Amino acid sequence: MRCNQENLMLLSHFIILLTFQSHFITLSHSQTIVKNLPGYSGDLPFKLETGYVGVGKNEEVQLFYYFVESQNNPEEDPLICYIPGGPGSSALLAFLYEMGPLNINVDNGITNATLVTNQYSWTKMASIVFVDIPAGTGFSYAKTKGAWVSSDSIVADQAHDFVKKFLIGHPKFLKNPLYMGGISYMGLVTPVITMNVYEGNERGDQPRLNIQGYILGSPLTDKFMDFNSRFKYAHRMALISDDIYKLGIENCHGNYINTDTSNSLCAQSLQSYKQCTDRISMNNILEPFCDESNSMPCQEEAFNGIRIWANSVTVQQALNISQGTIGTWELMNTTMHYAEGKKDTFCYAYDIFSSFAYHKKLTTKNCRALIFSGDHDMTFPYVGMEQWIASLGVRVEESWKPYFIDGQVGGYEMTYAQNDFSLTFATVKGAGHLVPVDKPKETMDVIERCLASRIDSNIIE
Ligand SMILES: *[C@@H]1O[C@H](CO)[C@@H](O)[C@H](O)[C@H]1NC(C)=O
Ligand SMILES: *[C@@H]1O[C@H](CO)[C@@H](O)[C@H](O)[C@H]1NC(C)=O
Ligand SMILES: *[C@@H]1O[C@H](CO)[C@@H](O)[C@H](O)[C@H]1NC(C)=O
Repeated sequence: MRCNQENLMLLSHFIILLTFQSHFITLSHSQTIVKNLPGYSGDLPFKLETGYVGVGKNEEVQLFYYFVESQNNPEEDPLICYIPGGPGSSALLAFLYEMGPLNINVDNGITNATLVTNQYSWTKMASIVFVDIPAGTGFSYAKTKGAWVSSDSIVADQAHDFVKKFLIGHPKFLKNPLYMGGISYMGLVTPVITMNVYEGNERGDQPRLNIQGYILGSPLTDKFMDFNSRFKYAHRMALISDDIYKLGIENCHGNYINTDTSNSLCAQSLQSYKQCTDRISMNNILEPFCDESNSMPCQEEAFNGIRIWANSVTVQQALNISQGTIGTWELMNTTMHYAEGKKDTFCYAYDIFSSFAYHKKLTTKNCRALIFSGDHDMTFPYVGMEQWIASLGVRVEESWKPYFIDGQVGGYEMTYAQNDFSLTFATVKGAGHLVPVDKPKETMDVIERCLASRIDSNIIE
């Protein structure tokens, strides 16, 4: 009897070992070291790995990633798991256009793009894994019809699964401080992923992840609060007058989006607001407004350059893309991409309305949060962020004050702290929704100070 039990225990250890190893084997099979990329002359000046990680039921979803080791000190620098917005926005956009190690240059035409190094790449201070998530985004795909369908909560689960398996495949990074990073729409999902990681550790899941916190740029947090804050923002930025603003408050009682149609006074106020802001570029109020009837160059040339580059056979060979897994590579999956008021589509359910409760829960963890926003972004205005951050109820550690770069004001920041939790809220002066594109140096400085304040403070046992 006793002997049998021991055998049983041995057997179960053996199975655990097997499962662990089989993950390892699956993962190591789809890791490709990329030494060169078409458009970049010579060897890449950083360590790039691409690959797929299978997540979800039977690993039917294959998530593609670009992993760049820190160009500073990969042994000790933090690891950021970076989830682009959208949903459905490709990781390549971050990698080649935003804060990744390379920028695409289309000065010689979009069919003849070259790649140049980005001196303000976040990979100068952190290792970053850029993930195409969910299936249907970038190079990520599903092996069954059902697995192509996704939602905010599926993304949250799959991202947690991803980061665990990625680290099982890269065990030397298990000790590095881990941060979840997300932008824009992923502001709804990243706090949920982060919470999943903390809860996994609390349950005793193996491997234990050295989670330190999360970083969010231009995040959507609450579909009511953020869209509603545009009205107040329009007033602050001189897009509407004091009179329109005052009447709006009086007539609409603080609700400028789900308004009561029988309230004609409010409708009138919103009509004036709409007239003033309809042809303002939401992503950056200083930039030209673009629509089909407009002769201004609306679409970034670089986007077309990236499309052509990513769809070329030599590029896909260099990245070691599995043949026949996706059709045309798209910069952004437009079916998935969210816009205000959009209903669920056949492939994606927008099932998280607000991530505020997750931010709130994270204030009880040993956690560091950074929220940054361009002050010229009207998509998700900083005024909405200022408001929900204040309502977390965490003690103000340092009140709103400027930070300086080369002796000039880079933007403003304030910090909150309580027990093991701290949060920095930073604006970047002059930036729009794509903060690192508009103000790369300032953004890098904000990130660098945030990461530095935490390094060494939390060594894993
Ligand atoms: C490319 O990926 C396949 C698996 O999808 C793997 O067998 C092969 O070794 C990889 N190639 C390189 C150069 O790493
Ligand atoms: C592409 O760019 C290279 C390097 O600048 C240049 O030599 C070449 O003529 C260009 N080709 C085309 C088709 O424009
Ligand atoms: C978007 O994703 C869905 C489901 O994942 C996929 O079926 C569709 O082909 C994708 N659309 C584009 C334009 O890539």
